[in-house]
Amino acid sequence: MLLERSSWPEVAAYLEKSRGIILPIGSTEQHGPTGLIGTDAICAEVVARGAGDVTGALVAPTIAFGMAQHHLAFPGSVALRPTTLIAVLCDIVLSLARHGFTHFYFVNGHGGNIATLSAAFSEIYARRSLRLSGEDQALRCRLRNWWQGRELREVVQELYGEAEGSHATPSEVALAAFAYPDAIKKAPLDPPVAPKKGGFTDAEDYRRNFPDGRIGSNPALANAEDGRRLYELAVKAVAQDYLEWLAK
Ligand code: NI
Repeated sequence: MLLERSSWPEVAAYLEKSRGIILPIGSTEQHGPTGLIGTDAICAEVVARGAGDVTGALVAPTIAFGMAQHHLAFPGSVALRPTTLIAVLCDIVLSLARHGFTHFYFVNGHGGNIATLSAAFSEIYARRSLRLSGEDQALRCRLRNWWQGRELREVVQELYGEAEGSHATPSEVALAAFAYPDAIKKAPLDPPVAPKKGGFTDAEDYRRNFPDGRIGSNPALANAEDGRRLYELAVKAVAQDYLEWLAK
């Protein structure tokens, strides 16, 4: 059930039986010469919606912008600063809390969001701890990256090994290709497996260390059929984790 395609009486009826909601969050940022700019948002969205179908959970509209300042030296990337993203997340959660939602399950598609999501959760909890909020309900938030899960990690290792890397990975490119097969790109990747040495600070530093945007990956290994396999494993793991968390 998608929030954006529900009416308010349907949401009111949903709240009679559940106080949980799944919120996909991604990023709009470069994913190397072949990966879609929307890869992280697309991956989070399809997995969240798949898990919503399995569990009957309401799924919020995808938060498609994330903390991606380090990608800004590549055209098309958009970044929310950590403070901006924290404010956005707090306002979304508190809006939904006003209606009676208490359990906020974020399906995340971007590693760069993790620290900020965690800080936003602390900000939300602090409101009640410090008696700053008027809400009488305790709120609970959970962060789940779509790529987590033992079974899925084993398949990723088997398919891509070391060439999975950590940005513009074949697994996320495959999942996006499964979601949008008509948008698959081809381009030369040189070297085939991107460099992985060195960290990064700001956008210029990132581009200096990782000139085509990839980190340690070979996304040419990705295909839509493997993407389907990863999708099914991710949905299964997220659905199970959501239901277990909700029941606690
Ligand atoms: Ni990504």
